[in-house]
Amino acid sequence: EKGGFDSFMDKEIHDQPAAVRDTLLGRLNEKGELTLDELKIDESVLRSIDKIIVVACGTAAYAGNVARYAIEHWCRIPTEVELAHEFRYRDPIVNEKTLVVAISQSGETMDTLMAVRHAQEQGAKVISICNTNGSTLPRESDAALYTHAGPEIAVASTKAFLAQITATYVLGLYLAQLRGNKYKDEVREILRELEAMPDKIQRVIDNEDQVKNLGRAMAEEESVLFLGRHVGFPVAMEGALKLKEIAYIHAEGFAAGELKHGPIALIEEDLPVFVVVPSPRGRDSLHSKVVSNIQEIRARGARTIVIAEEGDEAVKPYSDTVIYVPEAPTLLQPLLATVPLQIFACALAGAKGYDVDQPRNLAKSVTVE
Ligand code: M6R
Repeated sequence: EKGGFDSFMDKEIHDQPAAVRDTLLGRLNEKGELTLDELKIDESVLRSIDKIIVVACGTAAYAGNVARYAIEHWCRIPTEVELAHEFRYRDPIVNEKTLVVAISQSGETMDTLMAVRHAQEQGAKVISICNTNGSTLPRESDAALYTHAGPEIAVASTKAFLAQITATYVLGLYLAQLRGNKYKDEVREILRELEAMPDKIQRVIDNEDQVKNLGRAMAEEESVLFLGRHVGFPVAMEGALKLKEIAYIHAEGFAAGELKHGPIALIEEDLPVFVVVPSPRGRDSLHSKVVSNIQEIRARGARTIVIAEEGDEAVKPYSDTVIYVPEAPTLLQPLLATVPLQIFACALAGAKGYDVDQPRNLAKSVTVE
């Protein structure tokens, strides 16, 4: 049952360290290598694929968007992500050398199933990342990589999302290991870092009061924006989706770099804007670019709520609120930065008196097209 929590969603947010730990369990050997016995696709086939297409819907598609950054970087395989219901209607280029990765918590989402069937008709191999044993999607796939988040009851997906992201990392790192690549040392290092993530997620949860208070204080807001860049972009999209789903508030996620191409016109006095900031230790100048974005929106009166890495002092002068999360490699940051956004949506919707587990108009699994 709810184990003393107010809602299943609240409980499932707290289940996340275990969901990530259990999804990694048994997949890393003592030598620090990945073993994926369940991937019943010939290694030679996996070595020869020249394109990956991730198909999924909703939150699972945002997990796919995170996966794309990681898989392309580690494996150097061109990777696309497509909403499953759009996929087959654009006459996609799919053949025997295409690996389709279908992500679904329930394994029963009809849109995703139809996309998979379409890909299979054209000879693609399909790996599904799924949380529900024996559901339709893994049965119809060439191989299944299960997430071990445990049953997810709340309609708004939380722990399945973190488990899905974890499983895509495992898959990406496995393909990198199999195909040999120039990032060998980085892959080994990332595997070590991945094992440290459950404890870091727990630290974010231990800090939940700050975010809960913020959520409760913002119950009367009419619109909230979310900005992110690189892997922070799908995190921003997911933060906005959570708020739409359970709090019925207008919320939009943007790529921070897109601001000046239009969305900055929306910024007005007091508008709350969440910004997911990349690590200052990361490559390129991403961090400073996002800090500039925060400055720009602050100058136009926005209320800035910033999710940043511990020790990042640069964001402070431009933030109304800073929510710090532990240090992590950039590609793994979504496992941490998403959590405050989930806690925020859950607290805000609770403060409005809504049933967060059963939002209006939504079903847990969407079994019609
Ligand atoms: O069961 P699935 O993962 O295939 O479901 C996909 C989406 O319907 C699902 O993620 C939906 O967006 C959730 N309600 C998000 O919280």
